[in-house]
Amino acid sequence: MPNYTEPMLRDDALKGKTILVTGGGTGLGRSMSTYFLKLGANVIITSRKLDVIETTAREMEAETGGKVLALASDVRSYEQVEQVINKGYEHFGKIDILVNNAAGNFISPTERLSSRAFESVIGIVLQGTINNTLALGKRWIAEKQAGTVLNIVTTYAWTGSAYVVPSATAKAGVLAMTRSLAVEWAKYKIRVNAVAPGPFPTKGAWDRLLPGDLKEKFDPAQKVPVGRNGEHQELSNLCAYLVSDYSAYINGDCITIDGGEWLKGAGQFSNLEAVTPEMWDVLEQFTRGAK
Ligand code: HXC
Ligand code: NAP
Repeated sequence: MPNYTEPMLRDDALKGKTILVTGGGTGLGRSMSTYFLKLGANVIITSRKLDVIETTAREMEAETGGKVLALASDVRSYEQVEQVINKGYEHFGKIDILVNNAAGNFISPTERLSSRAFESVIGIVLQGTINNTLALGKRWIAEKQAGTVLNIVTTYAWTGSAYVVPSATAKAGVLAMTRSLAVEWAKYKIRVNAVAPGPFPTKGAWDRLLPGDLKEKFDPAQKVPVGRNGEHQELSNLCAYLVSDYSAYINGDCITIDGGEWLKGAGQFSNLEAVTPEMWDVLEQFTRGAK
């Protein structure tokens, strides 16, 4: 296997850290949390489904030997988020790092959406990120404790995207918050960064964004210049670095990890990829002849 599927950081890179990962019971949150545990961290995972996070927690503990606290909560409720933080402090003594990973999303023509559909996605992605960041940030500042926040966004946070408008709107807000707070809270020793993944297969995303035979018709790997989807470990490697003290001088940035996907979509002539060498011979004659 190529080594981008292998763990990258030194074994003790997150030793002694406690990390709260929202939506940590499934998909990318679960993969990241597993790697954080392997690097010596304690992890708190949250989601609405207690059975899912409890099962995940036991499986992750068995796999890594680390300590996981699973707490059911809805990120849309500030009260529930505060309760999670209080329980996390009671259990582990402190929380050092927050990964805002929980999300809600599905494809739909915007005119088919109700205002409640918008409310739901924006509530999870934007208000959920605000709730966790504000509640934990207040505590860090009050206790004069350093902290690190990592927000999982997407590349359409800055390009926008048709058919996922609530998500694009919310992720854009999260990116603006990332950059704003990175400056405002640096004086409290709180760093805030973001990661924008391209396509990384997960059940949650694939069921809602590529339902039915859409995954065959619109294979996301086809749009990626490096020719493949992302591997969870390579995203986990990046996220572990960004929440670790090794990235102490990175603040307010958003790191894209998409194999060049969004730039290919943006480049006006990217579809000339389809032109064969023989066609280029002919086209060259025309372009050279255009005097
Ligand atoms: C139109 C829909 C809909 C759909 C729900 N609604 N699904 N409208 N098309 N497919 C409407 C409902 O009718 C309702 O409006 C409103 O949205 C809220 O629906 P609920 O089911 O009550 O919402 P809730 O239980 O809060 O569930 C949230 C959810 C759901 C977002 C709708 O999909 C979910 O739980 N998602 C969590 C996991 C997830 O989405 N993971 C994927 C992340 S992937 P009315 O008016 O009828 O009351 C991702 C990748 C980004 O973010 C980038 C990829 C490259
Ligand atoms: P996922 O497995 O569906 O993860 C989303 C998680 O959020 C679930 O565990 C879900 O659990 C939780 N969640 C949803 N609503 C919640 C709420 N109200 N309160 C608490 N938790 C809630 O999907 P994923 O692909 O791993 O996505 C993880 C992150 O990566 C998201 O931020 C997503 O936008 C981002 N991302 C993914 C991709 C990709 O290709 N996969 C690409 C770009 C960005 P419950 O339903 O149990 O609450």
